[in-house]
Amino acid sequence: MFPVHRPRRLRRNEVIRSMVRETVLSPDDFIYPLFVTYGKGVKREIPSMPGCFQESVDEILKSAQEISSLGIPAVILFGIPENKDEKGSAAYDNDGVVQNAIRSIKDTVPNLYVITDICLCEYTSHGHCGVIEKGDVANDPTLELLAKEAVSHAYAGVDMVAPSDMMDGRIEAIRIALDDEGFAEIPIMSYAAKYASAFYGPFREAVESAPQFGDRRTYQMDPSNRREAIREVTLDIEEGADIVMVKPALSYLDIISDLKASFDIPIAAYNVSGEYSLVKAAGRLGWIDEKKLIMEILVSIKRAGADLILTYFAKDAARFLHR
Ligand code: PBG
Repeated sequence: MFPVHRPRRLRRNEVIRSMVRETVLSPDDFIYPLFVTYGKGVKREIPSMPGCFQESVDEILKSAQEISSLGIPAVILFGIPENKDEKGSAAYDNDGVVQNAIRSIKDTVPNLYVITDICLCEYTSHGHCGVIEKGDVANDPTLELLAKEAVSHAYAGVDMVAPSDMMDGRIEAIRIALDDEGFAEIPIMSYAAKYASAFYGPFREAVESAPQFGDRRTYQMDPSNRREAIREVTLDIEEGADIVMVKPALSYLDIISDLKASFDIPIAAYNVSGEYSLVKAAGRLGWIDEKKLIMEILVSIKRAGADLILTYFAKDAARFLHR
């Protein structure tokens, strides 16, 4: 009888579809980003990221409880300091917003795994991810400051650090600094293949970190490059990265897939702010089915090879999955 092969047989109903499903999402896959600011009782919605907030430490604690109760295992913290300066000193201030948030979360919701973004751009007056010398972002002097930032988070009790600056040699510099201070057990998740992307626009509004001059193309990768991601990741693994990340996620699924095939350490993907805003905006306009789109996006990132997904959709998706 023609045709012998009828793939539709395995799609006839939800029972058989779920039995042959290759990729299944779980709240365990997600890491939820939080924006910590100074003050008390502050919870300000970020206009271009509906449902995401700048929150002071007391409010972050409430969010942390909620995130944990949804079965999301981890958060990544970004800081918005009261004062920014040339050298981003608030980034390595032991009494800084992120340091205080780490201590409070680990005190009250100890099972929530706390990761921190290691970068200077949220803390520098010029908005670049490193210190400026002769009008340019200086690589090596920046490494020392990033290492100081990581160590100060470690003293506050962080579970994992995630450097996002894309300076050369930062993984090794941070690894050595952590080990020297007795924090050999803290893993490093490297933003290893981080592209110079317009998808970060809403995030820069969220943390007020848009560069005051120039752009990030001298340190972040060119979106046109695929093989270069392999080189960046190879270097970061040699320097001691425990997990490597691709960022953004959706326009870079080929990169996630390449890395999964080429390396044997876990791969993370950052489903970034612009990817979130597009969906939320279209959802508000009623132009798409927001819930279905969110789940399709997240499953595609996992299917491409991501073991961990950093996403602003984590709470929405966890709720959908629990239903
Ligand atoms: C800091 C950093 C950025 C993001 C994460 N860490 C912004 C940037 O590189 O300009 C972007 C996150 C997002 O867009 O959701 N370097």
